[in-house]
Formats: sequence, C-alpha cells, structure tokens
Amino acid sequence: MCAKQVKKAGEVPTTGHEWDGIQEYDNPMPRWWLWTFYLTIIWAIGYTVYYPAWPLINGATQGITGRTAAGDTRLAVAEEIRRFDEANAAIKAKLVAADLNAITTDPELDSFARASGAAVFRTWCAQCHGAGAAGNVGYPNLLDDDWLWGGDLESLHTTITHGIRAPDDPDARYSEMPKFGADGLLEPAQIGDVVEYVLQISGQEGYDPAKASAGAQVFADNCAACHMEDGKGDRTQGAPNLTDAVWLYGGDRASVTATVTNARFGVMPKWDLRLSEDEIRAVAVFVHGLGGGE
Ligand code: HEC
Ligand code: HEC
Repeated sequence: MCAKQVKKAGEVPTTGHEWDGIQEYDNPMPRWWLWTFYLTIIWAIGYTVYYPAWPLINGATQGITGRTAAGDTRLAVAEEIRRFDEANAAIKAKLVAADLNAITTDPELDSFARASGAAVFRTWCAQCHGAGAAGNVGYPNLLDDDWLWGGDLESLHTTITHGIRAPDDPDARYSEMPKFGADGLLEPAQIGDVVEYVLQISGQEGYDPAKASAGAQVFADNCAACHMEDGKGDRTQGAPNLTDAVWLYGGDRASVTATVTNARFGVMPKWDLRLSEDEIRAVAVFVHGLGGGE
C-alpha cells in the first residue's frame, strides 16, 4: 500500500477502538521502517555472536573473535612496549657491557642511565627511600655523602644487586649489631653511660659528662670493633658514623638507648631477581648522581 495515497474514512480497516466517535486506523507500518527494524534485530544477533556480549556469572560470552576494546588496548600497549624495548636494546646492551666507572664519562650512556634509573627508582625504591630519596627513619637518605656501605658506583651496584641482610642472598651485605640490653650483654647502667658517650661524640648538648666518661670505656670495649675507636663507623660492616648529625634511627637519648638495647637490623631486599642488570646499573648511576656519589 502506498503511504502517500490519502485515504478516506472507511477505506482503511480500523482497529475497532473508538473514543467519543474517534476511530483508530489500522495502518500497516511503513515498509522502510519495518525493514530497518528487522535489520537492527539481525545486526544485533550478528553482533552478539561476533563480539563478547552476554554477561554470564563469570565474565561474558567470548564471541567469535574474543576481541574487546580493553583487549585491543592491552595489545597496543604491549606492542608499544616491545617497540620501545627494541629501540633501547642497543643502548641497554652497551650499558651492561660498559665498565661501571666508564658509564658516567660517556654522555649518551650517562643520560640514558640517569633517565631510566630515575624511572626504576620511582617504581621500586621510592616507597622505602622516599620519592626524593631523602629517606626516612630506618631508611637511609641517599642524597647526602654519608654512606653506610659506600657511595662509589661499585659499592652501590653491589648493595643494590644483593641487598642488605637479605635472607635469600648469601652475598648480601651483612653485619649484626648485638642486642646489648635485650640479650643482657651490658648492664642498664652501662647502657646509660655509653648512650651519654654517644651524645657527647656526636656533638650534642646536654649529655652527662660523668656518665659519658665512664661510657667511653664501655664504648672502647663493646662498640669500637664496629663503630671504630673514633666512632666514625666502618663501611665494611655497614656500621654508621656516630659522630655526625646524620641518624638512621634517631640521635636523641631515647632513640640511641633503644638502638643499643634492642639493635635494629635494617633489611633491604636484593634486586637481582626483580631488576635486569641494565636496570640495576641505571639506578646505581641515578643514585650516584643524586649528590652523594663518590
Ligand atoms: C623495603 C624497603 C627498601 C626498598 C624497597 C629499597 N631499599 Fe634501599 N635500603 C633499605 C634499608 C632498610 C637500607 C639500610 C639497611 C642498613 O641498615 O644498612 C637500605 C640501604 C640502601 C643503600 C645503602 C645506603 C648506604 O648508606 O650505604 C642503597 C644504595 C639503597 N638502599 C638503594 C636502594 C635502591 C636503588 C632501591 C630500589 C631498587 C632500594 N634501595 C629499595 C630499604 C629499602
Ligand atoms: C657487630 C658490629 C656492631 C657493634 C659491636 C655495635 N654496633 Fe652499633 N651498629 C652496627 C650496625 C651494622 C648498625 C646499623 C643499624 C642496623 O642494624 O640497621 C649500627 C647502628 C648503631 C646506631 C644507630 C645509628 C643511627 O644512625 O641511628 C647506634 C646509636 C649504635 N649502633 C651504637 C652502638 C653502640 C653504643 C655500641 C656498643 C655498645 C654498638 N653500636 C655496637 C654495628 C655494630
């Protein structure tokens, strides 16, 4: 039936509905509309067969392709990473092959190492050492030139590769300060004395001179083996310098007393299983370049 034809009442069947003398025509749907409607149904069926669509309890139907927008994005990202890695493969190989101390003298290697080392640091190190590497109580500041284990590139590389007191690495840096109080190695009075002595040699005000001079002997007998006679520490044992104002666990009377009583045993994980050699070298160069590098 042609929709354009104007019909008179009576020529078209009505639905039989009537309100106050007004009747309702039973005109068929326009054909173009009907076909569009059928097409959308066919298209919808095709779509749900082709693409993941119907929600199930765990996930959804996979469709013929299994493709999703999220999946496509993941593929694109993986491809991007692959291309990025490929582009950097040569310089990474050069970084791994180079003599550690030659890295910083090669401008291209140096700038690559610093940039990629900064990224490694943000991802793996910042949670303990702080975003700006300034450290925290128990986590050393890596910006200054006060090093527990050494601040030249070789030392940093070893520290990062094997960790510190990392239980899963026999090559980890290791030393153990005794628990002088908890294990009863020193009397409380002796601990009190040696703490005053530490306050004195670190140049702090308000220590007790009588106790400090008694503490000097306690120090020589019990502490000098690691912290050295002059209290300046020993890097081969990671024993901190006690004569400066830099403290890992705090330099006030209460903190030093707690350290001597219970010791601390700071642990840093080893990284050689989680980072590749080029990443370890890069982050070592990055840390070395922060200001305290030797
Ligand atoms: C889980 C916490 C943690 C993470 C993560 C961590 N560190 Fe450490 N790091 C420590 C602790 C604790 C120490 C000090 C251990 C000690 O008492 O000797 C330390 C010490 C160091 C030292 C020795 C500093 C010195 O004075 O000799 C360097 C270098 C270092 N970390 C670099 C890194 C780098 C680079 C990363 C990332 C790849 C990293 N750390 C990740 C906890 C961490
Ligand atoms: C076997 C070696 C060893 C001996 C002996 C030792 N220490 Fe330590 N000491 C360390 C190490 C290693 C650290 C680093 C902290 C850690 O374990 O994480 C440390 C840390 C400290 C600190 C904390 C410094 C800071 O920056 O917060 C103080 C204070 C200290 N020692 C005092 C003493 C005193 C006092 C004695 C003697 C009664 C002593 N130590 C004996 C190895 C030793």
